Amino acid sequence: MNEARPLKPPMRGSVPCVNITTAGGTAINLRNLTVRFDVLSRPPVLAVDNVSLSIRAGEFVSLVGPSGCGKTTILNLLTGLLPVTYEGEVTIAGRKPTPGNPDIAYMLARDSLLPWRTALGNAAYGLEIRHVPQAEREAHARELLEKVGLGAFCDAYPKALSHGMRQRCALARTFCLGSPVFLMDEPFGALDAQTKLQLEDVLMDLWSAEQRTVLFVTHDLAEAVALSDRVVVMSARPGRIVADVPINLPRPRSVRAMQKDEAFHHLYAELWGLLEQGSLER
Ligand SMILES: Nc1ncnc2c1ncn2[C@@H]1O[C@H](COP(=O)(O)OP(=O)(O)O)[C@@H](O)[C@H]1O
Ligand SMILES: [Mg+2]
Repeated sequence: MNEARPLKPPMRGSVPCVNITTAGGTAINLRNLTVRFDVLSRPPVLAVDNVSLSIRAGEFVSLVGPSGCGKTTILNLLTGLLPVTYEGEVTIAGRKPTPGNPDIAYMLARDSLLPWRTALGNAAYGLEIRHVPQAEREAHARELLEKVGLGAFCDAYPKALSHGMRQRCALARTFCLGSPVFLMDEPFGALDAQTKLQLEDVLMDLWSAEQRTVLFVTHDLAEAVALSDRVVVMSARPGRIVADVPINLPRPRSVRAMQKDEAFHHLYAELWGLLEQGSLER
């Protein structure tokens, strides 16, 4: 079947980049999504319960909720890699999830850099798989490593990089892919507070310039408020959406400067209340 692919990235040379003309269209759509896991000799675990969520192209949406409420399950489902049957509808750019979908880049808390590749080799890896010529992919990867503050470490191997530097490299790799949709699962969750703020600002700079659609999972409400256009709050398992809060703070944002902003703290307190309320349900 020949379906339209509204979010397929066009090429900058042979390096893919985001088709900004799709901004405002629906990038991710979940409708009445319910997920149960079969557990041997026990009743199935209801992980996600009737979740509906629509994310526009170019939007930055955070998903917060108590541990075990199904956040990672939703991201895994969107990648098409989770071998689980579900009820409801899940689409990305109007299509069902499929493994290896080039529209998606996935970033996790642990960087999963390839230890035998340099920072440059890691950042360029996705484009290599997509057969972008070496000179072009390396130029693009180098540019992104500069932007994330790793320009002087292109030739370093992961073992010589701190955890913060490795996550910078993973961020460069994620943006280098050119995928219009990013799924990020607590990407800064294992960093110290200061490094985390620095990387959040790096992410904001890159995202402002490139306008990818981001579904960002975090347990850090300050991070969610600082980065997002909307914060979606889930209940304790089985995960349901208890609130969808618009974050109308002006952009561009400096995450570090925002720590002193009154409106930021107001939203933070509001979200805490919603999260606590959702944690008590069921
Ligand atoms: N492969 C699996 N098999 C059985 N249960 C699972 C599996 N993956 C996740 N679960 C269960 O589904 C629920 C949601 O998990 P998860 O999506 O990882 O939560 P979160 O990311 O919000 O912490 C949890 O109760 C977890 O134990
Ligand atoms: Mg998780």
